[in-house]
Amino acid sequence: MFKRIPGTKDILPDEAGRWQTIEATARQILALYNYREMRTPLIEEASLFNRTLGTATEIVQKQMFLIHNQQDLYSLRPEGTASIARSYLENNLDKTCGFIKLYYIGPMFRLERPQKGRLRQFHHIGCEAIGSQEATLDIETIGLAVHLLKSFSIADYKIKINSLGCPKDKQTLSLNLKHGLQKEKQKLCADCQVRMENNVLRILDCKNDSCKEIIKALALKDTHLCPDCLSHFKEVKNGLNSLAISFEVEPQLVRGLDYYNRTVFEFTHSNLGSQDAIGAGGRYNNLIKELGGPDTGGIGFAFGIERLLLASKSPAEKQINNLVYLITLGDEARKAGIKILHQLRSSNIPGDTDYLGSSLKSAMRAANDAGARYVLILGEDELKKGTISLKDMSNSSQKEIKIQDLTGELKC
Ligand code: HAM
Repeated sequence: MFKRIPGTKDILPDEAGRWQTIEATARQILALYNYREMRTPLIEEASLFNRTLGTATEIVQKQMFLIHNQQDLYSLRPEGTASIARSYLENNLDKTCGFIKLYYIGPMFRLERPQKGRLRQFHHIGCEAIGSQEATLDIETIGLAVHLLKSFSIADYKIKINSLGCPKDKQTLSLNLKHGLQKEKQKLCADCQVRMENNVLRILDCKNDSCKEIIKALALKDTHLCPDCLSHFKEVKNGLNSLAISFEVEPQLVRGLDYYNRTVFEFTHSNLGSQDAIGAGGRYNNLIKELGGPDTGGIGFAFGIERLLLASKSPAEKQINNLVYLITLGDEARKAGIKILHQLRSSNIPGDTDYLGSSLKSAMRAANDAGARYVLILGEDELKKGTISLKDMSNSSQKEIKIQDLTGELKC
């Protein structure tokens, strides 16, 4: 028997309800902030990600699902921001809209070692606001993430924020780090020793305990920030305070992707074990320019849906629906039943029936398992009289009504 690839998941019907709820809630909240949906392909030129995420990043070096197609190298998308930026420019949204708020919901792919909360195919609810460098947008964006978590009934999370500053500040931070780590170089893990040479900021993302200790001892601060970036960061922090959003400033937070600058943030949750980030994001003021567009800023974030579901812990809901379940007794009733179901569905009333020729008792059990609100019972006697029994499962009341009145009765 075939099995699913490690790190992928089947979302079975009992679970799909929770996915639908989270996605529908997200769409509703995102619309309140005037975000509009954008759907981009799952596959892009691999070089798009090399260019934007950075060649020294974990994702580009180790985690891309690459597809060789003659001369071309494609990749399944490991994240959504680069694709959105590509599409924003390719479709001239910079010229027609300038500022725009976009969201996406869909699968992402990373060739990671699977574990709890870490998959090879996972799903993002992500959003990107492109075309502004204003600190008010940073505040609104983090506020939106908080609003989303509240609407998903997720509490007990922490918000960590930091500012990387402008590219020059990032360079200063890199130099400070290199300088600070020089004496400790031999104690760093093998990967970090390489990172010292090609992208020292990535050392701050290292999960190795001894590297973490060395970094902690550096007691990083915001001394790398220029006056403009410092005041931008101050405005963001004040704005979050004014919205009563609690956060911690975490100077080690740099995020594992090169396109970030200025504000970066991460949401962590205690239910999740080692993979504790339920979502993360930040500002990317050079990304659009880097891809050949105008010098314009952007900011966004993405939540991992699987991790949101782990954090929310709410049990799989039994779907409450208005399903009408028809039980027919005998051949003639079964034939008439097809017509009745057709009429119900044509009137937008969801209907189903038993296709196994089950006994009345088993069919009642199937109706119950399907979460049916109403059960219709049609036997030969009722058929002759042109009637049908209608049972309301919410209060177990039962009555016999004319078949021709059924649609009207159920619509009330
Ligand atoms: P990211 O931190 O790589 O950011 O991913 C965002 C979230 O996706 C993570 O916080 C986590 O919840 C979830 N996630 C990431 N990898 C996995 C995995 N292997 N399995 C399960 N869940 C995972 C980004 O992707 C940025 N594009 C976010 C962003 C948008 N920044 C600006 N705009």
